[in-house]
Amino acid sequence: MPTVTNDLPSGLATLADHEHQARETLDEKTWAYLFGAAADELTHGRNLEAWRELALLPRVLRPLAGGHTRIELFGHERPHPILVAPMAYHRLAHPEGELATALAAAALGAGLVVSTQASCRLEDVAGTFLPGTDRGPLWFQLYLQPDRAFTRDLVRRAEAAGYEALVLTVDAPVQGARDRERRTGFRLPAGVRAVNLDGMRLPPSPTLGPTQSALFDDLLLHAPTWEDVSWLRSITRLPVLLKGVLHAEDAALAIEHGASGLIVSNHGGRTLDTAITTAAALPALAQTVQGRVPLLVDGGIRRGTDVLKAMALGASAVLVGRPVLHGLANAGAQGVAHVLRLLRDELEIAMALTGCRTLAEAGDALVRKPGR
Ligand code: FNR
Repeated sequence: MPTVTNDLPSGLATLADHEHQARETLDEKTWAYLFGAAADELTHGRNLEAWRELALLPRVLRPLAGGHTRIELFGHERPHPILVAPMAYHRLAHPEGELATALAAAALGAGLVVSTQASCRLEDVAGTFLPGTDRGPLWFQLYLQPDRAFTRDLVRRAEAAGYEALVLTVDAPVQGARDRERRTGFRLPAGVRAVNLDGMRLPPSPTLGPTQSALFDDLLLHAPTWEDVSWLRSITRLPVLLKGVLHAEDAALAIEHGASGLIVSNHGGRTLDTAITTAAALPALAQTVQGRVPLLVDGGIRRGTDVLKAMALGASAVLVGRPVLHGLANAGAQGVAHVLRLLRDELEIAMALTGCRTLAEAGDALVRKPGR
């Protein structure tokens, strides 16, 4: 378990500083789980690089007074376009876990997507987040469970607790090859578990013949398909977003199957290594979606300029993953608040320096590839 601190260490001026500090704070195994990506971790590294490689082409002498970062998402005005990505087990980073994250996100006007594998009860997280004024959206991320009745109950709980949308993650029918994690022998410590899955029953495994695959003939028997997207829509009144879409044809299929929004994501490089970066995938998806539904993006966003580039390339909002856990490890709710504050401040500066009074003014003419 981490050393617990709630005081913000001095000298943290960027999200990268938070990462370095968190690496000092967390033990090697926890770091391998929270930071690690799949296989050779190429996609994770390239996600970061891809945003950095895009060059901004600023405009000057435009009126900036009265500018703001506000956006509209699903009919609600929100203070800015930054959401906390769904991540499992925040209590690995800090004993207050998702409750601390929720407190900080609500205070900073950021959105919050709570993972199915959260280490705090989804009702308690909502109870901490929802009283915030001028807050961001509160969404629940869903991994469809083999036990569909259990999944239905989970959806009911999320609805009753006040979650405003469901985020169905579709890029992880199986866990990626997380070599770094296996090398360190990471195991969840006692007392940290996916509490919202308590009571779930796993189906009995079939007896496999010698040539059968434990993956295809057992684990993946219950992997979600497009029919399950329709099923999920049929059992809830909440908007359903699909997270983990990278191919333009899947974006079109998602809209056909009634998805209310899409999240362009490669799971922060934690599932399929060498998958396309999200910065590279975004323009084609924006082209396909044509503004019919909100299109969000995550993976490697570490600077206000990254947020601005994403918005310029057609994103409606962005999600930030690991940096939130770094902030949490460094100083609990205060650390998360600091990370979100830094990113939003940087976004405002980037807007002003590129001549954008509002994010609606950030179009694709603002971004040049391959950069420099
Ligand atoms: C994740 N991610 C994730 N995604 C999801 O849909 N459900 C989940 O439970 C988790 N859990 C999770 C745990 C940890 C420790 C990490 C780092 C990530 C993926 C996450 O939502 C997001 O897609 C990426 O983290 C975004 O990339 P960056 O910002 O971390 O580079």
